[in-house]
Amino acid sequence: MSTATAVINLDVEGPTIDRHLYGHFAEHLGRCVYGGFWVGEDSPIPNEGGIRLDVVAALRALNIPNLRWPGGCFADEYHWKDGIGPRDRRPTMVNTHWGNVEENNHFGTHEFMALCELLGAEPYISGNMGSGTVQEMSEWVEYLTREGDSPMVRLRKANGREEPWRVKFWGIGNETWGCGGNMRAEYSADLSRQYATYCRDHGDNTLYRIACGAADADYKWTETLMQQISCFGCEAAPRTFFQGLSVHYYTLAGPWSAKGSATEFDTEDYYRTMLSARKIDRILTGHSSVMDCYDPGRTVGLVLDEWGTWWDVEPGTDPGFLFQQNTLRDALVASTHFDVFHRHAERLRMANIAQTVNVLQAMILTDGDALVLTPTYHVFEMNKGHQDATSLAVHLRARDARRRVGDAELDTLSVSASVKEGRVLVSLTNLDAEGAAEVTLDLRGGSVGEVVARVLTADRLQDHNTAASPDAVRPRAFDAVTATDRGLVLTVPPHSFVTLGAALS
Ligand code: AHR
Repeated sequence: MSTATAVINLDVEGPTIDRHLYGHFAEHLGRCVYGGFWVGEDSPIPNEGGIRLDVVAALRALNIPNLRWPGGCFADEYHWKDGIGPRDRRPTMVNTHWGNVEENNHFGTHEFMALCELLGAEPYISGNMGSGTVQEMSEWVEYLTREGDSPMVRLRKANGREEPWRVKFWGIGNETWGCGGNMRAEYSADLSRQYATYCRDHGDNTLYRIACGAADADYKWTETLMQQISCFGCEAAPRTFFQGLSVHYYTLAGPWSAKGSATEFDTEDYYRTMLSARKIDRILTGHSSVMDCYDPGRTVGLVLDEWGTWWDVEPGTDPGFLFQQNTLRDALVASTHFDVFHRHAERLRMANIAQTVNVLQAMILTDGDALVLTPTYHVFEMNKGHQDATSLAVHLRARDARRRVGDAELDTLSVSASVKEGRVLVSLTNLDAEGAAEVTLDLRGGSVGEVVARVLTADRLQDHNTAASPDAVRPRAFDAVTATDRGLVLTVPPHSFVTLGAALS
């Protein structure tokens, strides 16, 4: 068993953990939208206007803050005008990125905005810069957000929506270095400025424009974009062309060509996965440092709008649909990511796990009318108290909580903490596959009342939930927390995630 001490100063407040760090992503990919969110009004599955109500209820329980749509790679071949008006008259297209399937455009702008309203989540729309025009993107903003009278307002009203919606988050292209147009950073930067110019703020709807950023550790891309961020000639009303810059990072156990199975892996694969997950800290640090050079006041947000695990698809499923199971290993990838996000809260303003339902590291898996909550779902639920909370720095002394993995060292203990409305929430992950970790929480600068703790673990790292066994991995009460004169002492089981909440007294 390893031993560790985590010193937390309850009276030293860090930056706010934006609730949008707990954001989500839904692409027209496989069964994420069709079958996942959308079943159509005639479905026997309970729905409101075609939107599955069981999925809505599950996500509302997470306080889902935002939903990114319609892609991903799909966004850069999506033409929004194909997805408005009477459904039976909407044109179809081929989704060439994902499975070459026909897209009937039944889930379009109005359906997405209705979904966000049902979820109580903010929309994050990803506009098409790869194959769409400046005019097309500009008109989409006008259609959604303008009030009064204008060509796009009249079109919206003709489609049954009088009032404008409010849309803040607007993505300008996706992975423009790849599926979004195979551009050079310089060209992408110029194009982002051009498109951003015509994405207008209509009335008091102020857009938060997110330019397409780097993959992984491509800091050069970030630098090129940041060099182009300032609007020269805007001295009267100084502003940046875009308010956020994205980055994508996926966790894999090996190379893209050998991602491996979601459920059939060994302990070595597990540790390699965790090394890959832990890399997110270095990557965010690298991009933030570059951004600090051009934006020392940290007004521009870093937006990790795609993250999560990526495994081989489940046997027998369409390789273009990216359907994968989700085990305790995925949950621990998520919990350690959140600790890192909390530490980067000053620059990192949003993060979106890929993807919410039936695709990649999903919260929810559906099969017909069956719905399964994944282990990753439970991490989001257990951690939801961190949303919009004030982060608290954690100083961790954990010298023996380490593992050699190939040439690298893996820190096996991860902790973060926050305070909100007089309640402290501490999250702890023990990545060690076999050994428990005895952790002393040395809380300074205040004291806490009764502790409520929960644990998410399972006998095996490979354990997961299915329709036949939906609760194989679920949070349980955890009462092994003792108050001592050194602080709160708890033994965190091997491969587990623990949250501990208490009121400040
Ligand atoms: O999330 C799946 C895909 O991964 C997205 O469409 C793309 O942006 C990324 O490569």
